[in-house]
Amino acid sequence: MALPDEFLQELRLRNDITNVISGYVNLKRRGRNMVGLCPFHGEKTASFTVYPETDSFFCFGCGVGGDVISFIRQAENLDYIDAVKLLAQRAGLDMPENSYDDSMQKLRLRIYEANREAARFFYSQLNLPSGKSGLEYLHGRQLSDRTIRSFGLGFAPDSWSALTDHLVEKGFRPTELIQANLSMKSKNGGVIDRFRNRVMFPIIDVRGNVIAFGGRIMTDEKPKYLNTSDTVAFKKSNNLFALNKAKNSKSDRLILCEGYMDVIALHQAGFGFAVATLGTALTREQAVIIKRYANTVVICYDADEAGQKATARAIEILRKEGLEIKVLTVPDGKDPDEYIKRHGANGYIKFKQLLDGTGNDLEYRIMKLKQNYNTDTADGKVKFMTEAAKLLSNLDNRIESDVYAGKLCEETGVDRKSFDNQISRYIRSRKKREKTEELNRIQKQLTGGDDRLNPRKENKIRAVRAEEALIAYLILNPDMVRSVCSELPPEKMITEFNRRVYSTVTDRILNGRSATLTDISGEFSQEENARIASILANNTVETNSPQSCREYVDIILSEGEKKSAEDIAKESPEEIQAYFEKLRADKKKKKQ
Ligand code: UTP
Ligand code: MN
Repeated sequence: MALPDEFLQELRLRNDITNVISGYVNLKRRGRNMVGLCPFHGEKTASFTVYPETDSFFCFGCGVGGDVISFIRQAENLDYIDAVKLLAQRAGLDMPENSYDDSMQKLRLRIYEANREAARFFYSQLNLPSGKSGLEYLHGRQLSDRTIRSFGLGFAPDSWSALTDHLVEKGFRPTELIQANLSMKSKNGGVIDRFRNRVMFPIIDVRGNVIAFGGRIMTDEKPKYLNTSDTVAFKKSNNLFALNKAKNSKSDRLILCEGYMDVIALHQAGFGFAVATLGTALTREQAVIIKRYANTVVICYDADEAGQKATARAIEILRKEGLEIKVLTVPDGKDPDEYIKRHGANGYIKFKQLLDGTGNDLEYRIMKLKQNYNTDTADGKVKFMTEAAKLLSNLDNRIESDVYAGKLCEETGVDRKSFDNQISRYIRSRKKREKTEELNRIQKQLTGGDDRLNPRKENKIRAVRAEEALIAYLILNPDMVRSVCSELPPEKMITEFNRRVYSTVTDRILNGRSATLTDISGEFSQEENARIASILANNTVETNSPQSCREYVDIILSEGEKKSAEDIAKESPEEIQAYFEKLRADKKKKKQ
């Protein structure tokens, strides 16, 4: 994705990183930098730092980082080019025309178009003889024509290639349809429809693009729902069904359901702020998206065991994002759809009562815990209250804990003091455990034991530190690149990732181009950009000097000469012999 240098520079200058991030995070000055609460993970003390000097940001808590483009990518859930577009728009810049590789972008637009046309096709089937069974099915599930239209529901006819033929006639190429996951290759090489004889639920993103479909079979066959697999236009872990509608509701709550039908039934009954995950467990990405539209989530999963397990997991994920959580358990019936249907014309009132009466996630967890014990017996009471103390000890909010401790003690007649003591004990042991874990993590980081991005041998840690410091130094002092490079060509960098960064940075600078994070971020993945930002965050102007730059080069060169035991083991006896002789000769030379 090569955008012209001048454009990227202009983009960076006109979108001051502190300024842009201030739109999302409340930043306060700390020394040369700005800090605030990380928008990408829940935290109470600020570890999210913006470095105006390098136009970068980095969170010491969760490890996200990068330049202003990377920030927008993550904050707005956009890909690189769309993030650039947004920043260009923000600064009143025109995008350079046809200057970047936009084949991916073009394919995505084609898939949106194909999906939209497919949705029209499915919808129109409902009024044809071939779609009669579909319409009857939807009516049978008590959906009104208005709801069907509003959600754009439809029917994929019982035919091998009705949709494929229709879309090809409209000018779509079979390969595009396969990439859209609307069609697939048949065993004998033809191209056939992926969805056949199913009622269809289009999935629409917040910008109004039809990004995917869910298709329900009308019998008891399996799979019950067939969904679009991930395509370049759709990632199921990043989207929520009906968010395009729910985002327009005035509510600051979202109801989170398991199924398409639950959501549609709720909307039809008057709860226009229901959404659902797309056939998978809730992900962190989805929680982040939810946070953008609501402060409170009402989890309303199925009443069965699977649904309750999923509730426990969802609570953890949503808590981490700092969302307020309520849990609604449907009393009779399997899921919200059935509940509303059962109550017919009273559906709205009955569900509203449930909604208004929901407890928060803590009450829900205490209730679930209590179900496991017979608190009429002394033994059961002890076990229940011990577990409850453990639960409360994990809360960050001590007031919340205090309120529930009071309630629980009153209910069970357990002495408040001993209950509080038990909680304190759990807190202490948790703190201890966290400390050990933290130490282990730091230890691992120091020895390079858990580095996926830049795997390396443990004894190269000195070299890695020097490489990283050198990279940061050169990004801040491009005028030094020429002399450093003459001594240290990229191939002499020891670890692979650092070699790639070094080579990208020095290449650009030697060719008279600039090499800020924004210039190079298009060449690296999100995770890699975060790593480069962390390198910059850990090697700032304060720690770098021309002398230290010299030292880094020396360390890298000398560490490069040393061979690891593993390398040696791979060589022939003659080679090993020669290597040790050279080492001895070098030592002698040094002594003289
Ligand atoms: P459920 O099995 O609870 O279905 O799956 P449901 O929503 O109650 O559907 P109806 O009422 O029988 O029509 C919940 C969700 O899990 C996903 C779908 O998103 C569904 O809405 N799912 C389920 C699949 O993706 N594939 C399946 O085969 C089943
Ligand atoms: Mn259902």
